Amino acid sequence: MAIRQSEFPHDFLWGASTSAHQVEGNTHNQWTVWELEHAKSLAAQAEYHYKDLDNWDDIKAQAKNPDNYVSGSASDHYARYKEDIELAHSLHMNALRFSVEWSRIEPNMGSWDSQAIAHYREYVSKLKKQGIEPVLTLFHFTVPVWFSEMGGFEKRSNSKYFIRFAEKILTELGGDIRYVITINEPEVYAFESYHLGHWPPGAQSKRAALTVLRNLISVHNQTAKMIHSLHSRYKVSIAKNSNYFYPGDDAVLSVKSAQAMQYGQDDYVLKRVVKQCDFLAVNYYFSHRVYGYRTHNPNEHVSDMGWDMAPADLEFVLERLSRKYKLPIIITENGCADSSDAKRQWWLKETFGAMQRALKQGVELQGYLHWSLLDNFEWDKGKWPRFGLLAVDYTTQERTVRRSARRYGEVVKKIRRI
Ligand code: BGC
Repeated sequence: MAIRQSEFPHDFLWGASTSAHQVEGNTHNQWTVWELEHAKSLAAQAEYHYKDLDNWDDIKAQAKNPDNYVSGSASDHYARYKEDIELAHSLHMNALRFSVEWSRIEPNMGSWDSQAIAHYREYVSKLKKQGIEPVLTLFHFTVPVWFSEMGGFEKRSNSKYFIRFAEKILTELGGDIRYVITINEPEVYAFESYHLGHWPPGAQSKRAALTVLRNLISVHNQTAKMIHSLHSRYKVSIAKNSNYFYPGDDAVLSVKSAQAMQYGQDDYVLKRVVKQCDFLAVNYYFSHRVYGYRTHNPNEHVSDMGWDMAPADLEFVLERLSRKYKLPIIITENGCADSSDAKRQWWLKETFGAMQRALKQGVELQGYLHWSLLDNFEWDKGKWPRFGLLAVDYTTQERTVRRSARRYGEVVKKIRRI
């Protein structure tokens, strides 16, 4: 990877991301309940959904096994976080994005679990000791069962419970936190959980999805105001999944559709939250080639999940968002499912090139957090997709540093002049 130090600011955040339910293990929230109810049917549908993937033969035993769809002990990060943070440090990272699990902190409405709070306090203090900046996410797709039974984010009047939780945990974690992400990918959550019905609560209603999306926008704005009122050191954002749409030909329909899709993807949410954001938190995985009013990707490179891989297009996402919203940007997720680690190094190289070009174009890019630090539970796909810089053996919980991760670490070491 030909990277020049001078192009990255000296205080650039280099690291990775995780989310509580996907790595901690032994959580009890609305997802845990849903997984247990749906594991058998997800396993039965696996062949239908995944049989066309190039790696079907490699994944089929796992994908057809109901255990794959139950997070269970996941990557056991709740118990092994010290080891994982030390590994992140050994890879020269200086930032880690993680989420706190609301259902541990407030297992019953209004009652706080002091042990869970102490755990996250120790977690943050371990990060600080290793010179790693915590980037805290408050909502990454999971909520306590009691909150979900009350209607979750579909009911605007429930927002106050989330804001109360946010205030509690920020007050408890004290002065070590600066970066806070209120909500992860509001559209993905609204769409998967309330329109497609792939995720709990499994609703299939466009109207419900739009209600949830609007409520999450309002939750972000209220939570951000509350956080800013606690202390001026906080830098708050919402993690936005930003895809890149481009016309595949110069037909007016393709050009107009790509523009409309880009607007729907980014701007519907961003223009409603940007006043309550100190920076843009960008999750980038996809770009889409648009012909007419449909997307049809080149699929020159595909990930284990069959996703078209176009890491270099990150440059255009960064440049567009920076031009339009004039805020600093931190990439809060970016990566690929690649169990054999054959493509991740290429993905990183392309991504770093895209970041360099964007910086040269004047984008105020402040950090890069790879998804993910370690292999994790990939929601309704379960455990077969492998996004980790660290490979996890789910039987022994042994961690192995993937080759691409070592290379990432070497590049960061050089850039940070360690
Ligand atoms: C989510 C992660 C997920 C990743 C890969 C993002 O949309 O925030 O939770 O694991 O994509 O699918």
